[in-house]
Amino acid sequence: LVKGAKQVVTVRNDENVRVLRGKEMQHVDIINAKGKDGVSILVDSNGRIEFIGLDSERVSKYPRSEDEAEQVIEAEGKCIVPGLVDAHTHPVWVGDRVHEFAMKLAGASYMEVHEAGGGIHFTVENTRKASQDELYVSFSKRLYDMMSAGTTCVECKSGYGLDTETEIKMLKVIETAKREHPLTISSTFCGAHAIPKGSTAEKATEDVINNQLPAIKRLMKEGQLHVDNIDVFCEKGVFDLEQSRAILEAGKAAGLQINFHGDELHPLNGAKMGAELGALAISHLEEISEEGIAAMASSGSVGVVLPTTAYILRLRPPPVRRMLEAGVAVALGSDFNPNAYCMAMPTVMHLACVLLRMTMPESLIAATLNAASALGLSKDYGSLSRGKYADLVIIDAPRWEHLIYQFGCHDKIIDYVIKKGHIA
Ligand code: NIG
Ligand code: FE
Repeated sequence: LVKGAKQVVTVRNDENVRVLRGKEMQHVDIINAKGKDGVSILVDSNGRIEFIGLDSERVSKYPRSEDEAEQVIEAEGKCIVPGLVDAHTHPVWVGDRVHEFAMKLAGASYMEVHEAGGGIHFTVENTRKASQDELYVSFSKRLYDMMSAGTTCVECKSGYGLDTETEIKMLKVIETAKREHPLTISSTFCGAHAIPKGSTAEKATEDVINNQLPAIKRLMKEGQLHVDNIDVFCEKGVFDLEQSRAILEAGKAAGLQINFHGDELHPLNGAKMGAELGALAISHLEEISEEGIAAMASSGSVGVVLPTTAYILRLRPPPVRRMLEAGVAVALGSDFNPNAYCMAMPTVMHLACVLLRMTMPESLIAATLNAASALGLSKDYGSLSRGKYADLVIIDAPRWEHLIYQFGCHDKIIDYVIKKGHIA
């Protein structure tokens, strides 16, 4: 039981809302304390929200709730928002790329570093050499760090193997965390993250479709892996539109949800292609076309925007206001990876407001309900409503917006992260 809160942001207190699109994202629903009558959230034994409303209402409906609760959290004067959902991360790797940060600051572009054998290639070399246990140790620490910054659900990609053996090693690392870590994880096969050194796009496409994916499918059948999404880096000089389409279709046929990198550095019309395939989500979209925006608005594919990457690579930011005007559902992700080393969603939300010109309510919805929707999880996660899991962030501030406003210091402002009703 959490009681006495000053403000609880429910996003929308309606179990049937799975995603908000365009203008619908302008408002969040807030339950405010009435004088001394604060707001309560009562959690059932399965970790789901049983009641959300004023303390007085809770006492009259559940008179013994305070005595019977396993734990009572006093939230007087504090605000509560839904647990944050990070819709896009690359968190399984060893070997950071701090040396490349200096190169990029000195003017090298992302692709220049990549083509010189660094970037993803550097991380692939190191990740191939690492053992599963070694990868798990750093991955698990990152998951705890994400959680302490308010994240309660996260998408995690493979993609630093680019061969069957290492891709499976990475997916197994993620699988272990799915079983052992409190965070809710959506896992993504991203064997088509780059073209392995010495290979070609044609050969790599073939390898992903004919070797990597079938091997993963077998492990899924045997119950050794539970992979949720298929991804590809659809980009000029990486996988072109047709190669990307073939990889995504093969993944879809294997039962995976389509969720991929499109229109980041060059306008390839990846968004339009993804919308045609019924993609659940498409990420980046800095270079999305008007046609792509219209296609995503009509397919309902969620646009996952990644302000850390646009910021660090000094890219033109994605046209989020145009996307919202057209009725696209926008979500946020940290894109945590050795290029964009940020795992704090409150910082991502701040950047979304300043760089992408999103309002604070829009960025909250993008980092909760819509991010859950990008992963197909919004039935159970992403907003505070009866029946959904009690994933919440308790903020020590008089208004919820402080979570975004006070940037770069989430540890000072977040009091508790609650995962399925338990203090994380
Ligand atoms: O989303 N664009 C491709 N993939 C990642 C970067 C991965 C890396 O550089 O290691 C991204 O930004
Ligand atoms: Fe990415």
